[in-house]
Amino acid sequence: MTPQLDLRNVTKRFGGVAAVDGVTFSIAKGEILGVIGPNGAGKTTLLNCISGVYRLDGGDIRWHGVSIAGLAPYRVARLGVGRTFQIVKPFGSMTVRENVAVGALFGSDSERPPLRAAFDRADSVLELVGLRMKADLPVSALTIPDRKRLEVARAVATRPKLLLLDEVMAGLNNVEIDDALEMVRAVHETGVTVVLIEHVMRVIVGVCERVIVLDLGRTLADGQPDVVLRDERVIQAYLGERYARRLRGG
Ligand SMILES: Nc1ncnc2c1ncn2[C@@H]1O[C@H](COP(=O)(O)OP(=O)(O)OP(=O)(O)O)[C@@H](O)[C@H]1O
Ligand SMILES: [Mg+2]
Repeated sequence: MTPQLDLRNVTKRFGGVAAVDGVTFSIAKGEILGVIGPNGAGKTTLLNCISGVYRLDGGDIRWHGVSIAGLAPYRVARLGVGRTFQIVKPFGSMTVRENVAVGALFGSDSERPPLRAAFDRADSVLELVGLRMKADLPVSALTIPDRKRLEVARAVATRPKLLLLDEVMAGLNNVEIDDALEMVRAVHETGVTVVLIEHVMRVIVGVCERVIVLDLGRTLADGQPDVVLRDERVIQAYLGERYARRLRGG
């Protein structure tokens, strides 16, 4: 079967440095894929390549078998690829509901929905991510975890078929992470494929069926979390011995 998204030798250079260096993998519809790796490994750059922010220096990206390399970001979004940003960028003076309605208005449907429908969509997404009670608050009044929820809600409102999440759980405490995990599961259960960049291993183990490890722009490992997180090379490059000992129950 044709994968939903197919990356072949994707390469992106900044100056002489290859931030993403010949990355090849594919994602099936309905998967939850984790992407992990040290700071500067190329995770965000890879996401920017998929969403059309960067033009590739090499390789190809296919969406249901058709190349999307070189398409402008809004065109990739219209196909059904939604994303969050590592640096959260809400419209501060607008309410939570208005922010999400903007997502609905500029979503993947080829025609813009009427305003009323956009607000209805916003309300159902706010319910899904657990922000319904805060819909009328200005964004400036939200706590950090709620801002992350909002960021996911804005992306989900665009009706993505594939959702790219860039460290949406960074800076959250354990309880907040559990809530955020529930949110990601809830979105996934609506039929959305999810790619999750995350440094918190509990998140990866808790929700991902498969994980890819990037290091220096290259794929170091690709497989089931319990196998990949025990891989010596992954421990060396990223997880460190401390984590490995804890994993072994030491
Ligand atoms: N716009 C840019 N211009 C120049 N270099 C960049 C740019 N964006 C990223 N880089 C470089 O590319 C490499 C990969 O960066 P990237 O942000 O993709 O890493 P990351 O895996 O997302 O890291 P983190 O975990 O810290 O978010 C780094 O060496 C970074 O300095
Ligand atoms: Mg990053």
